[in-house]
Amino acid sequence: MNKEELTNWIETIFKEEQLILAVFSAPFKNIEIKKATVRPIKIKNKIFFQLSLHSKTQVFHRNLNSSECQKWVTEQVIHYKQAMIDTDLFDYQLLISKKQTITLLKKNSSKQPQLKLHNRQKNHYLEEGKPLSFLVQLGIMTAEGKIIAKKSHKFFQINRFLELAEETLSQFEKDQKIVVIDFGCGKGYLTFALYYYLTFIKQLKVEMIGLDLKADVIEKCQQVAKDLGYHQLHFKLGDIYSYHSKQKIDMVIALHACNTATDAALQKAVEWQSKAILCVPCCQSELYQQVKNSALTPLLKHGILKERFAALATDALRAQLLEVLGYKAQVVEFIEIDHTPKNLLIRAVKSSFVKKEQAWKLYKEMKEILNVEPMLEKLLKKELAL
Ligand SMILES: C[S@@+](CC[C@H](N)C(=O)[O-])C[C@H]1O[C@@H](n2cnc3c(N)ncnc32)[C@H](O)[C@@H]1O
Repeated sequence: MNKEELTNWIETIFKEEQLILAVFSAPFKNIEIKKATVRPIKIKNKIFFQLSLHSKTQVFHRNLNSSECQKWVTEQVIHYKQAMIDTDLFDYQLLISKKQTITLLKKNSSKQPQLKLHNRQKNHYLEEGKPLSFLVQLGIMTAEGKIIAKKSHKFFQINRFLELAEETLSQFEKDQKIVVIDFGCGKGYLTFALYYYLTFIKQLKVEMIGLDLKADVIEKCQQVAKDLGYHQLHFKLGDIYSYHSKQKIDMVIALHACNTATDAALQKAVEWQSKAILCVPCCQSELYQQVKNSALTPLLKHGILKERFAALATDALRAQLLEVLGYKAQVVEFIEIDHTPKNLLIRAVKSSFVKKEQAWKLYKEMKEILNVEPMLEKLLKKELAL
């Protein structure tokens, strides 16, 4: 992380998360304050941040508003080798070396905020504090509407997914029925969330199918859907590769479907001419085995760099192929699930404005440079021949 990223991260803490406690310790030389803590407090119904500054012999307190506190943290953080920052979403540990190398580690939050600092609802498509039966059934929320601490990251992920999915809705007519398939739906957190959001919040006519290879999860999800009275949500046992649909599928989602299962999902979407696609690829090992270019030796000789590069190249080529086939494709950050690059989402919508020939030329150039034969191209052979 560089200093600019550090500043942006601090801004995120103050704007999008709820700070619970921050402790800055192990100062670099010549710093009078040996330790500093920051915690939110309420004074006359207003939220402030109490800064406690510990010198060798004394403790000083200052109460700052949010932007003053953000400024203090931004300016002072680099004087300490270590900072522990706990928010409602994550427990962070920030380490700064003598050479000013900045390392940020994070775990899911272990603490519940005592004070409500600001209303983050605007980024929340599902509201906290209001019991939602499907989230209760899936073990994300308590019956009182509180997010279970260990599941807060999932709740955050669901909201981010809904935000990204919502941006594709302009593709559909207001009164049309939207048929959605969630390939590799697993326990169905995102499937239920999208169904609930589209049906009950957006008031759209929706039919949704969750497909997975695992019989036990499909059975459980089907039971939950039945218990909730979600009549247009069905879970089916099946393999993405061999799945056939008699009806037209308007939206295809595939989140964290392993390796080339993502390609199979994309191929189906193209075959059906689905209007919207949302995919979060996972464990891409395909191009890792193939990529070759002596000019890239300084990169490819390092296993970890090769792995990440191959994963990014896979997604770039997938998005590019979607453009060749008439989709406007974007790669956006989904959410930092952990410290892996598995947090990218490919979002594509049908568009008549893409320059298909140009997209094909760029695709071929990149493929040749890397000496790779992506699975998606093979799966889309028929569609690409048109
Ligand atoms: C990591 S889980 C992700 C679950 C869910 N989509 C999510 O993001 O929370 C991946 C799921 O994809 C399913 N899967 C992998 N390959 C599949 C295939 N070829 N056909 C159907 N499901 C598949 C697995 O069984 C697993 O449940």
